[in-house]
Amino acid sequence: MIIAIDGPAASGKSTTARLVAKKLNITYLDTGAMYRALTLQLLKSNVDFDNLDKVSTILGNLTIDMYDHKGTNIIKLNNEDITEQIRSSNVTKNVSEVSALLIVRKSMVVMQREIGYKSDCVVEGRDIGTIVFPNADFKFFMIADIKMRANRRLNEMNQSGTLKTFDEIVLDLEIRDDKDTNRENSPLRKAVDAVEIDTSELTIDEQVNKIINHIKNN
Ligand code: DC
Repeated sequence: MIIAIDGPAASGKSTTARLVAKKLNITYLDTGAMYRALTLQLLKSNVDFDNLDKVSTILGNLTIDMYDHKGTNIIKLNNEDITEQIRSSNVTKNVSEVSALLIVRKSMVVMQREIGYKSDCVVEGRDIGTIVFPNADFKFFMIADIKMRANRRLNEMNQSGTLKTFDEIVLDLEIRDDKDTNRENSPLRKAVDAVEIDTSELTIDEQVNKIINHIKNN
């Protein structure tokens, strides 16, 4: 069974997807973390994103492992724990550019399908219901008011000690939404058969229950 959850940044996808997977006791796949891991590796290796030969070599040598540890989705890149590094502002600033590259998308989609075909999964991202798993058993598209999304990000950042103002976060989100929605390859889109969930006024528990109830009743 594949449950696809798409939506813009900070719409509540990640936490909800992880908890839905936990409740159903199936795998959780955070595809954004995969694009972030590649972006981190390109930045560390000083590779220019236009240098497709080098991007391709790095892609070919990428080994990403993900697993849950006490409620945190741990991400390892070539055996190094990069869970925190992939959330840095530098990775966040560059990830949309990297994820817009066709060679990157092609290769990520292959990896994501391999994981999805092996086990039941909740797969979270931008193009899961449209491109990666168009035949997913269930598709959800999460949206939320930009101010709510910025507030959530601000709270997360306060916890991790990152200093940004509310207005800066709104601008960051708008820029990333714009890039993710208007790129040529696999733009962020709601699949025609996806159930839309507006999380602006919902708690995490309510978001999770909406999805679980929909799955149970359909
Ligand atoms: O979900 P996230 O914010 O961690 O995702 C980081 C970036 O990765 C996002 O700005 C766009 C890209 N992404 C993508 O293009 N396709 C996906 N399936 C998931 C993420």
